[in-house]
Amino acid sequence: MKSSLLYEGKAKKIYQAAGKKGQLVLSYKNDATAFNGEKKASFNGKGRLNNEISARIFPFLHEQGIETHFIERLNETEQLVQQTEIIPLEVVVRNLATGSITKRLGIKEKTVFDPPLLELFYKDDALGDPLINDDHAYILSDVSHSELQEIKSKALEINEQLTKLFATMDIRLVDFKLEFGRLASGCIILADEISPDTCRLWDLTTEEKLDKDVFRQGTGDLLEVYEEILKRLEANQ
Ligand code: C5P
Repeated sequence: MKSSLLYEGKAKKIYQAAGKKGQLVLSYKNDATAFNGEKKASFNGKGRLNNEISARIFPFLHEQGIETHFIERLNETEQLVQQTEIIPLEVVVRNLATGSITKRLGIKEKTVFDPPLLELFYKDDALGDPLINDDHAYILSDVSHSELQEIKSKALEINEQLTKLFATMDIRLVDFKLEFGRLASGCIILADEISPDTCRLWDLTTEEKLDKDVFRQGTGDLLEVYEEILKRLEANQ
């Protein structure tokens, strides 16, 4: 199904799909990294869990009218996606203050953002993915004004849909990161992954963390909480 390796990231490998022009195979790795790669570990089964979780969330978004790169899950750790040119922008949407925003701006933990707060980071490991503003994005990420507006409105729409989905699973969507890609036609669609690696997910009642923060902070068992997310997604569908 896959041919040449195009790119190896921290959590995924990307291959050209054999014999399928314009399609890629995303292969989810068992590796977990945090703090821009400073903390590293491998968890046997993490790749499968993120592949399965992402392969449930993307079709859900598609059903809500949001175009994504996802085509199908191929096997335990791989999925077929449309090839896009990734826009070097990490779009973060926050519903509740935690993580970097509390440290960066001194905003009190658990401050509710209503409307949700959107931040842009320039996707560049060597620079440590710095926070940027719109004017920086036009230059660094090569997006036009209207494309950036489209990206922002899609990110907020995705936030609405995912907040509803997770609420039915008794989970609060605290924040998350999205990446978008450009198709050969010029259309911008949702790319990359949506998983507990890229979202903060708290149990609605207990506020137990069911995401990568358990690894970042060393407060829990990553596989156990990712398994819990998958279990609740399965129960929901
Ligand atoms: O660390 P920070 O609070 O800025 O993260 C905001 C959200 O974006 C979190 O859900 C985190 O998991 C996600 N994120 C990510 N990849 C990054 C940075 C943040 O998935 N490189």
